[in-house]
Amino acid sequence: ASAQIGVTGLAVMGRNLARNFARNGYTVAVHNRTAARTRALVEEFGQEGDFVAAESAEDFVAALERPRRLVVMVKAGEPTDAVIEEFAPLLEPGDMIVDGGNAHFADTRRRERALRERGVHFVGAGVSGGEEGALNGPSIMPGGSQESYEALGPMLEKISAKAADGSPCTAHIGPDGAGHFVKMVHNGIEYADMQLIAEAYQLLREVAGHSPAEIADIFRTWNTGRLDSYLIEITAEVLAHVDSATGEPFVDVVRDQAEQKGTGRWTVQIALDLGVPVSGIAEAVFARSLSGHRELRDASRGLAGPTAEPLGKADAAAFADQVEQALYASKIVSYTQGFHQIAAGSEEYDWNIDLGAVASIWRGGCIIRAAFLDRIRAAYDARSDLPSLLADEGFAREIGEAQDDWRAVLVAATRQGEPAPGFAAALAYYDALRADRLPAALTQGQRDYFGAHTYRRADREGTFHTLWGGDRSEVPA
Ligand code: 6PG
Repeated sequence: ASAQIGVTGLAVMGRNLARNFARNGYTVAVHNRTAARTRALVEEFGQEGDFVAAESAEDFVAALERPRRLVVMVKAGEPTDAVIEEFAPLLEPGDMIVDGGNAHFADTRRRERALRERGVHFVGAGVSGGEEGALNGPSIMPGGSQESYEALGPMLEKISAKAADGSPCTAHIGPDGAGHFVKMVHNGIEYADMQLIAEAYQLLREVAGHSPAEIADIFRTWNTGRLDSYLIEITAEVLAHVDSATGEPFVDVVRDQAEQKGTGRWTVQIALDLGVPVSGIAEAVFARSLSGHRELRDASRGLAGPTAEPLGKADAAAFADQVEQALYASKIVSYTQGFHQIAAGSEEYDWNIDLGAVASIWRGGCIIRAAFLDRIRAAYDARSDLPSLLADEGFAREIGEAQDDWRAVLVAATRQGEPAPGFAAALAYYDALRADRLPAALTQGQRDYFGAHTYRRADREGTFHTLWGGDRSEVPA
């Protein structure tokens, strides 16, 4: 046994992660269901470090030093269970299986429980950063026992991305499903960030009349300020790209139907179960689904729209500044909602997640990496029991300064019939949280009227019911 770590499942993510471990000086056992892939990896990249190619599951396990660290990089769902079933009987107490796929955290909890009974640690680790991240430094969100982190953490810290201050973009998130839960919310926020950027683009194009190339330049400028982030950077690249076949902007030749593999949807499903209002993330998921309903869209083409004229050129420059404010303010809201969901999950499952640490390890390597995350880290580091990011003085001030422009952008969008569901949902969330009174009192009255569901009064304790069908007097419930 000579390998410190093993990777099974050598599609591109697994292969790149194995190479990353090897490039960092670890001896890496590699294994794949079809052995040709294993041989190809060693042939092509063998000079990058020390690999041990294993043809069988038995050889693979035998190649690993104890405690064995076995990283599974296969498709989430049944393939993961199949691999666990194959390897678990070959392992000994103290060994660990690390699932680096996008597993649902409930599956991770189930697998962790089952393996714990055999004395095997199961580490559900969210890995973000795509192919490039896996090779050169991803953000890694490992869950599982403290003991497993002690044996695995230092290796993950070595291969992970590093934030600008040099700290590794990985940390022990918490027990069982905590890592995959946090990765799921990362993806929910990723959807929201992408949707908000898409809305900004659409408004700059349709309301202000900018071309994709001009918008690419606007995004490049934004990327030097507080919106500095990977997603803004690649947005400029995509917008500036010209299709070689037609000479048209790339964004004009691609079908406007967004796909999804499901992690954003899980975020919203779980948020509904936890009672966390992630309205911005939900709008992002729904926007993708709406875009895919070609038949509905075709059937709706004749519906009347507004008659307002596009803005003039002079206004267009000012409008771009306003859109930057709207985008930034809406982004604050998405992260507020996402971190609320992590706090709620942590509470529900007793994970004791350090929100500042989550922000910290998202600063590099992952898809949502952004300068902004350093601010979130600082906010939670200053006050770990911060009830909401909007309660942080700095964010509250910035969003307050942005709000007039944010509203103006939504007025312009609405006037011209351009949907901006992410911006709108974020503003509604902000205004609802600010409100002295919400119309929920009326909702309670209706519920009491039709279903005797009772209500509580603002002026004294107790639960009450009004005899709506009788003399309308109030009785204690
Ligand atoms: C990442 C990404 C990645 C994920 C897709 C989500 O963090 O590296 O989130 O894990 O597979 O980006 O893809 P969909 O848009 O298909 O849901």
